[in-house]
Amino acid sequence: MHYPVLCAEALEYLAIRPEGVYLDATAGLGGHTREIARRLATGLVIANDRDAESLEFARAHTLEFGGRVRLHQGTFSDLGAAVRAEGFERVNGLVADLGVSRYQLTEPHRGFSILTEGPVDMRMDQNQRMTAGDLVNSAAEKAIADWIYQLGEERRARRIARAIVRARPIRSTLHLAGVVERAVPRTGHLHPATRTFMALRMVVNDEQGELDRLLELGPGLVAAGGRMVVISFMSLEDRKVKEKFRTWGREGRAEVLTKRPVTPSQKEIQDNPASRSAKLRAVEMR
Ligand SMILES: C[S@@+](CC[C@H](N)C(=O)[O-])C[C@H]1O[C@@H](n2cnc3c(N)ncnc32)[C@H](O)[C@@H]1O
Repeated sequence: MHYPVLCAEALEYLAIRPEGVYLDATAGLGGHTREIARRLATGLVIANDRDAESLEFARAHTLEFGGRVRLHQGTFSDLGAAVRAEGFERVNGLVADLGVSRYQLTEPHRGFSILTEGPVDMRMDQNQRMTAGDLVNSAAEKAIADWIYQLGEERRARRIARAIVRARPIRSTLHLAGVVERAVPRTGHLHPATRTFMALRMVVNDEQGELDRLLELGPGLVAAGGRMVVISFMSLEDRKVKEKFRTWGREGRAEVLTKRPVTPSQKEIQDNPASRSAKLRAVEMR
């Protein structure tokens, strides 16, 4: 069962018009795309993802509305090209549901999981060259420590980086998770390697840089009166979105529709615990 996070809320803020053109920047398994497509009559949803495997799931999950869905593989930098390829300059709404999907996180061969054996890969786009394995096996100890500290917000980053460098070559996800677990004792309910894996994933996929590009390009992609909705799962990301939206508000480029972030209901968190840290923010472009 696939639950698109904050789906009702995203649709409400997108204020779908049946003849509108929408851009799902992170189609993933097609959950949001499908619900947008369901509400269209003559309109279109351009469904983008950098992960070819995920786009195949999105295709399968949206077959019912296939005529209203156009799939594109690319990063946030490619969104403008995707919109133009469909014959449009701008869209009536853009949604971005950041990070990785359940599929990516749990599929062993994708190498994101601390719980199953797989290659230390973590590339969203498997055509990309650099993997997380390349990072842990060849980056300087200090660089690894800085990533884990800054992106993973892990206080014990130095100790973890030292253990990783000593254990080289790191051969698999479980090997890496075990090295971290032996270096730092478990505190609380999180697996001790969770933040390390998150940081490596963010570096491999340049997630901070990609979000910056999305926020840079967003206003040029959405027509006046159109909405932009961003769902983030990490405080670093939500902060960037909040600040950028506020700046656009001050500059008169957009109206901020969410004074506070919208978060999942108790019911959604119960049905889908992975949604618990989600925060949605929305603007309407001027
Ligand atoms: C949280 S999932 C989206 C799930 C989707 N909304 C659904 O309902 O099925 C995030 C997706 O965004 C993709 N993604 C993340 N960053 C991206 C980027 N910079 N460019 C393109 N796709 C990206 C990932 O590959 C992943 O499939």
